Amino acid sequence: MIAPSTHAARRRRLRALVDGPILLVGLDARPRNQRLVSFPFRQDSTFLYFTGCREPGAALLLDGDEETLFLPDRDPREVIWDGIDLDLGARAARLGFARVRPARELPEAVAALPAPPAALAVPDDARNAAISALVGQPLRWVEAMGPDALVDAVIRLRRTLGPEEVAEQRAAAAILARAHHAAMAASRPGVPERHVRALFEATLAAAGAVPSFPTIATVHGEVLHNERADGVLEDGRLFLLDGGAEVPSGYATDVTRTWPVSGRFTPRQRAAYEAVLAAQTAGIAAVRPGVRYREVHLAAARVVARFMADEGMLRCDPDTAVEAGAHALIFPHGVGHLVGLDVHDLEDFGDRATYGPGRSRSEQFGLAFLRIDLDLEPGMVVTVEPGIYFIPALLADREVVEPLRAHVHLDRIADWVGLGGIRIEDDVLVTDDGHEVLTGAIVKSPAEIEARVGTAGLAIPT
Ligand code: GLY
Ligand code: MN
Ligand code: MN
Repeated sequence: MIAPSTHAARRRRLRALVDGPILLVGLDARPRNQRLVSFPFRQDSTFLYFTGCREPGAALLLDGDEETLFLPDRDPREVIWDGIDLDLGARAARLGFARVRPARELPEAVAALPAPPAALAVPDDARNAAISALVGQPLRWVEAMGPDALVDAVIRLRRTLGPEEVAEQRAAAAILARAHHAAMAASRPGVPERHVRALFEATLAAAGAVPSFPTIATVHGEVLHNERADGVLEDGRLFLLDGGAEVPSGYATDVTRTWPVSGRFTPRQRAAYEAVLAAQTAGIAAVRPGVRYREVHLAAARVVARFMADEGMLRCDPDTAVEAGAHALIFPHGVGHLVGLDVHDLEDFGDRATYGPGRSRSEQFGLAFLRIDLDLEPGMVVTVEPGIYFIPALLADREVVEPLRAHVHLDRIADWVGLGGIRIEDDVLVTDDGHEVLTGAIVKSPAEIEARVGTAGLAIPT
C-alpha cells in the first residue's frame, strides 16, 4: 500500500502548483439494479492519488495549509449491517488526516471560503453537476475536467510514478504472471473461453486483486476489444488473452499473450507470432528517456512491414509502407499507452496529458490511434503492444484500403484471414538510462509458451 505520508507529500506538491483553495471529490457508490446491490466500488484515481481514501462519498478541501477530509457520517444502526467504524476522526486518522468533517457540511465549508475553490471532474456526471453548482464552475468528465492550472498540475504529478508506485505495479505483475500462466496451462481444445477467463480472474481474486479492465479472452483476437468470451477454444486456432491485475492500492497492469490452443504453433502462426515478438522487442528496445513515444510505435511498425514484405504482401519497400501507413492494414492500433492508477492512465484528461506540447494526432489511419506521443521520462510506465490481425471488415473498408492499394497486394493479405489476431503486450518502466520490463516474468517465447499450454486443469493456483 501507499503510505499516508506519501499522499501528504503529493498534496503539498499540488498546493505548491495551484494558487487558491482546491476541492477534490471522490466518487459515490452506484446502484447496479436496486439500492441494496451496488457495482463494486472503485474510487476515482485522482482522489485516490491524493488521499488513499477508498470510501464512497468523500471529498477533500485544501485551503492554504489547512487540509480537511469530508467523510459521510452514518446512521449508528448501519454499523449492524456493514461494521464500518462510525468514528469519522478515526477513519480520517488512518489516512493521515487530522481534520475531518461530515460530508453533508461540504456546501457550507465551500460557501465560507473567500473565493470558490478550483475543482476537478470525476467520471460521474451526476456528481459533477452537484459540484459544479457548488463551485460555480463547469465540470464534465473528459470535456471539462477543471481549471487549467489544476488539471495541468494533476497531469504533471500523476504522469511519472515514484518507487512506491512502481512497487505496487511489481506486486500486481507478480499476481498477473500467475494468472496468465494458469490460463495457458488450462487451455486445450474444447474448453470454453469463459472457463479460461474465469480461471484467470479467479487467480487474481485469490491474490486480492481485480481485473484492471474487462478481460479479453478469445480465439477471435482480430476483434480488438472482444470482451464476450462466448466461444470455445478450437483446435488449430490462436487464443488471445489481454488482461490486467489491479491491486488494492489501485495500481494497474495490462498484459497480452497469445498462444496456440493445441500447444503447437502452425508454421504460419509461428511466422506471424515471431514477427509480433520481433516488433515488440524493437519497440521495447527504443524505450528510454528523451525518446519520443511515436518512435517506439514506428520501430514496431517497421518490423510488421518487414513481415508483410517477406510474405509478399507489399508492392513497396517496408519503410515506404510505414510512411504511407500500409502496415496499419494488419496493425491498426497504436503501440500503447501509459499505465498507472488507470489502465489507460490519464487518457480521459485528453491529449494535453498524453501528447507532447505542440503535438497533435496524425490524420493517417493507424497512427491516428496512437494514444500517447510524449517524450519519455524516467518514472513513466508505458505498454508496448504491437499486434498483427487479419480483420475482414478492415480489408473490406474501401475508405482505408483504396489509398493504400498501390502499396499492397490485398489478395496476399486476405489470404491470411482466418489466422485471427496476435498481440503481445508488456508494461515497461522508463528508467534513468533505459527501461525495465515490469511484466517480463510472463513467458512469451514460442518454446516457453508451447511448454506451458495444456499442461494443467482448471485448478486455481494460490
Ligand atoms: N486491453 C486494452 C489495452 O491493451 O490497451
Ligand atoms: Mn491490454
Ligand atoms: Mn494496453
